[in-house]
Amino acid sequence: MCSIIGCIGRLNVAPVLVESLKRMEYRGYDSVGIATIDNGRISTRKGVGRVADVDKSLNLIMMPGQIGIGHTRWATHGGVTDKNAHPHYGCRAEIAVVHNGIVENYKELKEELVHLGHEFKSDTDSEVIAHLLEQYYAEQKDGTQAIIKTCKRLKGTYAFVAAFEDGTLGGSRYDEPLIIGPVEDGYFISSDILGFLPYTDKAIFLDNKDIVVVDRHRLKLYDSDGNPVNRPVTQVAWELAAIDKGKFTHHTLKEIHEQPHTIMIAATQNREKINDFCRILLDSKTIYFTGSGTSYHSALVAKHILARFAKIRAESIMSSEFQYALDSLDSSSVLVAISQSGETADVLQSVKTAKQMGAKILSIVNIPTSSLARISDSFLSIDCGPEVGVAATKSFTGQLSLLYSVVDRLCNGRVDYEAGKLELVDAINDVLASETEIEKVADRIRDAKDIYIMGRSIHYPIALEGALKIKELAYIHAEGIAAGELKHGPLALIDKNSIVVIINPRDGTFDDNIASAHEIKARGATIIGVSDEPNDVYDIFVRIPSVRDALYPLLEVVPFQILAYYLALRKSVDPDYPRNLAKSVTVK
Ligand code: F6R
Repeated sequence: MCSIIGCIGRLNVAPVLVESLKRMEYRGYDSVGIATIDNGRISTRKGVGRVADVDKSLNLIMMPGQIGIGHTRWATHGGVTDKNAHPHYGCRAEIAVVHNGIVENYKELKEELVHLGHEFKSDTDSEVIAHLLEQYYAEQKDGTQAIIKTCKRLKGTYAFVAAFEDGTLGGSRYDEPLIIGPVEDGYFISSDILGFLPYTDKAIFLDNKDIVVVDRHRLKLYDSDGNPVNRPVTQVAWELAAIDKGKFTHHTLKEIHEQPHTIMIAATQNREKINDFCRILLDSKTIYFTGSGTSYHSALVAKHILARFAKIRAESIMSSEFQYALDSLDSSSVLVAISQSGETADVLQSVKTAKQMGAKILSIVNIPTSSLARISDSFLSIDCGPEVGVAATKSFTGQLSLLYSVVDRLCNGRVDYEAGKLELVDAINDVLASETEIEKVADRIRDAKDIYIMGRSIHYPIALEGALKIKELAYIHAEGIAAGELKHGPLALIDKNSIVVIINPRDGTFDDNIASAHEIKARGATIIGVSDEPNDVYDIFVRIPSVRDALYPLLEVVPFQILAYYLALRKSVDPDYPRNLAKSVTVK
């Protein structure tokens, strides 16, 4: 979603803001804007495109001033146009605002403000915040009061930062993150710690409805009624070097290659924390897993291995559907929420609803300071470092690795994941070493219009995940199908133009898959087998090493990640930043 940054300090602020926005661009990236204050005057430059491109055309870094705000947008209300890019103003250039979230009642507010004489310049919901601030600021010339009154009028979710021409910055949040980074001679206010991490590893996380006002010397925090509050300073521990691309051409490829390392890290948990996590699971009568997109696919694998090894039944429900499936949730239930970012709106909504019904909340995140981690009864972090590529890769295998460790504990080591993870590291390294072979497969199928990916049992979630990767990175229609369902409908789609990938390692699903493959071949489709065992039925064979049955999901997903990456390159798509998507989906 959108990124917001505010900075007040002694340095020329524009280059600092531009660099911050570049680091956070993975969150959303259709337009960019900056406002700086110099000699009591606010000026703005904004436009459509990526940060580097807009900077090049508008010379953002040359904007004067030591105080400023910046924004990258992921459009929700109003098209991707210069005028809809943030910052927004009221009628006069006294207050500039950047916003992330959705103001649900913006139509009513806009009508009211128009009635009072305000003129709107954009089609965004965000602009109402600027006009409300302007309206209330005009009454008392007090930025804090203007923010308090404005927030009381907003329905929906928001994090915003406003720059006032008197040189103060102020903002607030509700269900969208807003974090303060205190530095020696000023402050950052950002939607993401990556916004200020090169300057400080200290962070102050605002609670919902908190209000922040900073000038160069002072930070003031208030609750929604204007009473002063204190929030602790947290030490954040990420090395910024981790967001370099290193020797790789894209973050996505680098993150795919990091997986042998990240599955080890994710499986290395603090003993007390994992025991606490497992105790809560064992104490519950019913277990639900939830997540969105790729994290939901982890939830599907989790349900499978929990039943298979620990003989514990669980439900996996995608977060966007969770609110419609609550009938059997109560205080004896536990909800395990899985999310890389820990900020996904659908996941947070599921957690809030489950909490209201008395359920305990466990979470698996990559960002220990995220909203999800902070509202959970207990959480575990996969600690795979920043995942910048919009497509989830290392976070998926990290989540699985952690889930396998948890299940292993619940079933007294029956998964034997201690040895299993070492086996996996070797096997994944083998697949990574065959990258050029997979690239050749991408060449052969680059013009495909439809790709079907089939798998049974524990491989079915990987069929879904493989299809998701191809859709989002290469913009090719791809569908994950439970192989046994083929003859119940999908076979009607298969013809000589179809590409069908069968996930088929030698396990209990192998023979049935070969039978399905023959049915498909008879309809003229091209068949790609992903397996440790070749077979005549495959037109193209992608070899993966043999590992023990239960571990295949962590391994067999890797060829799909590589395939999707190279398909994106063949289609001249930037794999790190697929169109219309954002890394952190903080709106419902
Ligand atoms: C797919 C992808 C998305 C995310 C989903 C959930 O590659 O990245 O489907 O998996 O938006 O995000 P998190 O895990 O941050 O909750």
